Amino acid sequence: MADQNGHILVVDDNSTSRLKLTMGLKQQGHTVALAENGQQALDMLRAEAFDVVLLDIILPEMDGHEVLRQMKCDKTLRDIPVIVISALDDMDSMVKCIEMGAEDYLPKPFNPVLLKARLNASLRKKKLRDLEIAYLEQEVMLRQSEKLATLGRLSAGLAHELNNPAAATQRGVEQLRSAFFRLRQALFGISDLKLTNLQLASLLELKLIAQERAKQPDDLGALDRSDLEYEIETWLEDQGIDKAWENIPTLVSLGYGLDKLTSLTDTFETDQLPSILASVSSTYTICSLLEEMSQGAGRTVEIVNALKSYSYLDQAPIQSVDVRQGLDSTLVMFRSRLKAGVVVHREYAEDLPLVQAHGGELNQVWTNMIDNAIAAMDGHGELYLRTRQENGWVIVEIEDTGPGIPEEIQLRIFDPFFTTKPLGEGTGLGLNISHNIIVHKHKGQILIASQPGQTCFQIKLPINAD
Ligand SMILES: Nc1ncnc2c1ncn2[C@@H]1O[C@H](COP(=O)(O)OP(=O)(O)OP(=O)(O)O)[C@@H](O)[C@H]1O
Ligand SMILES: [Mg+2]
Repeated sequence: MADQNGHILVVDDNSTSRLKLTMGLKQQGHTVALAENGQQALDMLRAEAFDVVLLDIILPEMDGHEVLRQMKCDKTLRDIPVIVISALDDMDSMVKCIEMGAEDYLPKPFNPVLLKARLNASLRKKKLRDLEIAYLEQEVMLRQSEKLATLGRLSAGLAHELNNPAAATQRGVEQLRSAFFRLRQALFGISDLKLTNLQLASLLELKLIAQERAKQPDDLGALDRSDLEYEIETWLEDQGIDKAWENIPTLVSLGYGLDKLTSLTDTFETDQLPSILASVSSTYTICSLLEEMSQGAGRTVEIVNALKSYSYLDQAPIQSVDVRQGLDSTLVMFRSRLKAGVVVHREYAEDLPLVQAHGGELNQVWTNMIDNAIAAMDGHGELYLRTRQENGWVIVEIEDTGPGIPEEIQLRIFDPFFTTKPLGEGTGLGLNISHNIIVHKHKGQILIASQPGQTCFQIKLPINAD
């Protein structure tokens, strides 16, 4: 292997041996800094990045053992290799240093060949360690970005889910304003009608019926609706009532037809009808708007609760987890993507035991797998979620009706960065992260069974994991 050049700190109180070492090191192409005592060495190590320390054991005030001890206690200095320099007859000291974590030792007087060999070996180790740290840091960043990407995908769907009820509520408020105005007008009109007690009781009943009807939206088709509207319009015209046209769509929703209208004339005079109809229809409109808005607000609360349960906010990292709940709150996160064309079948065992697990991380696994299933089916197909207990395991199955995973890639799908998705669409980390969470963190297993039209990921979690 080629020689490595490095930045070396020489710690020695003897100026002659310092000079000799420095010359030797510089000849080999290294850069060198010098410290005369232990404290100075530690100060320099904390101020500057070194690749190797050549450390004499016998130093004034703070000896080499103490320098080594302090370096090993310091996270930022722990990984710098230390080669201990000592006289040949001080073997005990050298052994102690190796036990304390020194990389190697170098006997005095120096042998340049030995110095070169040991220094190169330490430098190679240091470079490998640096690479390992850089790789680990990069991996942490990638995993973080995969999490963010999943979150990004989920939040786009969620934004849509939350926006619908919010927009409906906003629209509802506007419509309520004008419905209230119409009701007030109608009530003014009614107060001029001098209704009899019988008529008042009948009006009250009509309003109560309207209030009840508002709880269930009508299920009329467009054609039936327009036929009914035409019928009512003609009847009103025949009666010489021309001011009630704006109430016609509402009267149709209310289930009014010719029979109902005709029966009203038994109780009310024709000239009383416009105000009566206006009052009943605006009561209906107000009640249905309130119903819609209350459903919208309920939907928002449901999503926020699912989000809280999905992310296990304010909960301990490891707890008793009901995987059914995790699967359901994950489904809420995907609702808008699923609605577009995926039929979900939930087949959950009723007697499912809880598992001791990191709930948030398990949800990340369900998220990755459901995301893969929807993507594999291109947004159209059937998704089966099953849970049951079997021989000490809680089993979760996530099955889709997509094209399947070709056998030749089944062994590779858990590899980091393995993806068949176009550039920019998948990082290839979803299953790798899921594997780490299930197999390494929860001592579980993941099995795959796949053929065209049926791909099943089976996740096994131990019920009593130690
Ligand atoms: N249900 C499935 N049906 C078919 N192929 C699948 C399924 N699940 C995973 N795969 C295959 O496994 C590959 C790796 O999946 P993984 O979730 O690790 O990465 P990805 O989905 O490609 O990217 P991302 O990092 O966005 O999840 C996918 O690209 C796909 O080829
Ligand atoms: Mg994926």
